[in-house]
Amino acid sequence: MTKKPSRRDFLKTGMAASAILMVGPQTTMAAQRPKPFEKGSIGSLELANRFIKSSTWSGTADKKGYVTDLTLKFHSEVAKGGVGLILTGNQIVMTNGMSSPYSICNCDDNQAEGLKRLADCVHRQGCKVVVQLSHSLARSNPKLFLAEGDELWGVSAAPYSPDSPVPKEMTKKEIASLVDAFTAAAVRSQKCGFDGVMLHGAHGYGLNQFLSPAWNRRGDSYGGSVQNRYRVVGEIMEGIKGNLGPDFPILFKLSAQDFVNGGIEPPEALEIAQRLRDSGIAAIQVSACSPVSKEDKHCFKDEILEEKDEGYLLDFSQYMKDSVKAPIIAVGGIRSLSTAEGALKDGKADYISMARPLIREPNLINQWKSGNVARAKCISCNGCFETGLQGLGISCRIERMLKENKAAS
Ligand SMILES: Cc1cc2nc3c(=O)[nH]c(=O)nc-3n(C[C@H](O)[C@H](O)[C@H](O)COP(=O)(O)O)c2cc1C
Ligand code: SF4
Repeated sequence: MTKKPSRRDFLKTGMAASAILMVGPQTTMAAQRPKPFEKGSIGSLELANRFIKSSTWSGTADKKGYVTDLTLKFHSEVAKGGVGLILTGNQIVMTNGMSSPYSICNCDDNQAEGLKRLADCVHRQGCKVVVQLSHSLARSNPKLFLAEGDELWGVSAAPYSPDSPVPKEMTKKEIASLVDAFTAAAVRSQKCGFDGVMLHGAHGYGLNQFLSPAWNRRGDSYGGSVQNRYRVVGEIMEGIKGNLGPDFPILFKLSAQDFVNGGIEPPEALEIAQRLRDSGIAAIQVSACSPVSKEDKHCFKDEILEEKDEGYLLDFSQYMKDSVKAPIIAVGGIRSLSTAEGALKDGKADYISMARPLIREPNLINQWKSGNVARAKCISCNGCFETGLQGLGISCRIERMLKENKAAS
């Protein structure tokens, strides 16, 4: 029986891999390690500092996936707050790919006007913005299909979770249409003024399903070996680069470990990261888990109440950073400037991204920059989803309660 690698095992593997994979001078020398408010570049994308707003589905689109004024308000506020880059919430590239209601669609040119307004409203605040592109495949919710005849697609005929419906295994023709849809969405995003695209390959979404043996049980050229499971990502990268040239930044959100039976383990994630680098990825955001992960693992972990609980995925970003020569973006439970500073100084990441703290306090980075270095107030309770699911846009539950209490007193 094969022993499951421990965290220590994968760190060791990472170190061995780094000796093999690193060519040329090490770029992680202490002297070259960035500081939080230092400028940076991700491919051709110049950033004012090392802070990035991690993708958040904002629950602000209308029922057909069009950008609304609420979408613009949410993003303008974050853009004003001091981050160098906003990664948008996942935008759906096909009408059968939505998993959460009121998601933004990037699947046809009618949506371009709203998307352009979104890019413009962020740029007006001097911030950069990258679109996260996704298809939920077996994780899609059939109640949210947008076109007549839409079907639930899966990499294989395996349900996303034991409670999910069994999808239809995609034909090669359907896979080609998925590649075309990602490519077309990237081209549309570039025309609308976005500074790059991120492919969502984490948290159990469609590209994660292709990459992971937990969902991908295909016997053809898209299943089996890592090379085959990576094929669809490689084709999307080629499609985008073929249309937009080598300099348009493509980023990737990668699950370093799925924490599901038969899912991706760190050494395999490292191999995927290496392939991404070879395909010309501009940066890799290192996440892990999905909503169906076991062992109480979650991509948006709760109860991060003290500094010692922060940065729960930093071991994974360090593992990638030690071995892959591409900018690494950390995510997961970073709540204080000292943790962010430490992660950069210790060579665990090149950029720091945060999601929930910037929902509660969009101005957090400006505050830190001005010398007020209090920890983020976010208590990681995940109450911000509630209003999003009602189509009112995500908002902090605690701030809502404080407001109500104040109004009542
Ligand atoms: C309301 C909400 C929506 C999210 N939507 C997305 C998404 O669309 N795409 C994505 O990659 N991650 C999404 N995430 C995950 C975050 O990007 C991030 O990986 C996670 O919240 C951990 O970071 P944090 O501890 O700073 O919140 C979402 C998280 C929250 C709380
Ligand atoms: S509801 Fe507020 S405190 Fe809770 S996770 Fe969301 S932003 Fe943080």
